[in-house]
Amino acid sequence: MADGSQAHRRPLVAGNWKMNLTHLEGAVLAAEVAAALPSPVPVDVVLCPPFTALQAVGDVLAAAGGEVMLGAQDLHWQERGAFTGEVSAGMLAALGCRYVIAGHSERRGLFGETDEMVARKAAAARAAGLIPIVCVGETLEQRRAGRVEAVILGQLEAVLAAVSPDAGLVIAYEPVWAIGTGEAASPADAAAVARLIRDRLRQAGPGAGDVRILYGGSVTAENAAGFLSEPDLDGALVGGASLDARSFAAIVEAAVKP
Ligand code: PGA
Repeated sequence: MADGSQAHRRPLVAGNWKMNLTHLEGAVLAAEVAAALPSPVPVDVVLCPPFTALQAVGDVLAAAGGEVMLGAQDLHWQERGAFTGEVSAGMLAALGCRYVIAGHSERRGLFGETDEMVARKAAAARAAGLIPIVCVGETLEQRRAGRVEAVILGQLEAVLAAVSPDAGLVIAYEPVWAIGTGEAASPADAAAVARLIRDRLRQAGPGAGDVRILYGGSVTAENAAGFLSEPDLDGALVGGASLDARSFAAIVEAAVKP
């Protein structure tokens, strides 16, 4: 069932730069992105550079009018202490971040993040006033085994045990097999998983209609409109194509709902 109250959710397009660009290169790209977007920016737009570029990118975005928001790619759930190499939600908020990605499949797959860790990160982000973009998604093996629903609901379960579903939560559906492969899901398949997510959120709380659900995985300027015109998808989490200002701006344009 499509969510009838979709109209009140402002679309969101987030660029996940991953481990790319120095702070100097990031400042250049941020300025290009700001210049490529119309003003006022018609949807919520967030850039998530590496930690080392947050300050520089934040400065550029602020100087460009502050319409494009700053986000981080990860965080630790503790506020401070002996956690060498980690960064807390409070540190990100102090730098001007508004969003933070939690539980990206690269964190889960390459760095052993569990559902429980992701849930703690989401809760810590919210406690610091940040909006977590929590990633969920199945592997190709899981999809072939018919386990999409079980995997997605399992990943969601942990998050919902830690945070209530409302406008301060974003869920990104990112099938692992579609990330960085050039093989995006079909818009219909992505929307079907978004509906599954929405239905589960509804059981968890009255604010479920305010949670934005994004699609991520090989989104490009060419295929973005297919996803973003789906009423059940509220935006996109963009990796590779976010490293090119013109491609990213075209994706933002495709997110504007009539
Ligand atoms: P991609 O990455 O757009 O390069 O597939 C998406 C993501 O990992 O968030």
